[in-house]
Amino acid sequence: MSARAITVVDDVAGAAAERIAAAVRDGGHIALSGGSTPRAAHERVAREELDWSHTQLWFGDDRAVGPQHEHSNYLMVRRSLLDRIRGAQPEVHRIKGELGHDAAAADYERELKTAWGAEGLPRMDLLLLGLGPDAHTASLFGGDDALGERERLAVAVVNPGMAPLVSRVTLTLPVLNAAREVVFLISGEDKAEAVARAFGDAPDPSAPASLIRPDPGNLLVLLDASAASLMGNGA
Ligand code: 6PG
Repeated sequence: MSARAITVVDDVAGAAAERIAAAVRDGGHIALSGGSTPRAAHERVAREELDWSHTQLWFGDDRAVGPQHEHSNYLMVRRSLLDRIRGAQPEVHRIKGELGHDAAAADYERELKTAWGAEGLPRMDLLLLGLGPDAHTASLFGGDDALGERERLAVAVVNPGMAPLVSRVTLTLPVLNAAREVVFLISGEDKAEAVARAFGDAPDPSAPASLIRPDPGNLLVLLDASAASLMGNGA
């Protein structure tokens, strides 16, 4: 039975760092989010004494750029986490954006299939997601074909609905919803409307985050009071 919790916290980064640390202690597959919100959580968890050698890091999405590009989520993760981890490093599965969005999506899909083999859908042990002000998540934007993809594991998004306006590679909804634990990290008043759209009652394809309903996995939304300010009484 999947559980869903929406938890307002003062310290989103600290709460997220605790979840990441717990997943690292368990070992397994962790998919990181892009954007800016996760940065503080990465820096916090990098300070903990953890053995990352049993962890494989994946990306929910990335921009179809090289690993040194300013818009690269991998670069953000390298600077905020990987370069700060002391001791054994995790295995990192980077989306190779420098190949171009279609080739990068195909390459990432091959890597996912190799890791999970005949087990079927890749099942992340922990999947971190952010929320855009337009209620997109990963690089799944309202009205884009990628949102309706149910066969492929990773696809290109040529025209993202939000800056940076570079093409992307994203995990598809079936993979996101296959995760054992999905944790959203959300902060700031600019996300309040998106939060109300994403975590109300009914799923709404114009608010892609509302389609994140892991089953049998669990959903945890970690958000601050500003981001929760337009939620109903449920939060
Ligand atoms: C990306 C992210 C995207 C992000 C949201 C929130 O590649 O940009 O995957 O889904 O999580 O846009 O971004 P912020 O945390 O920067 O607000």
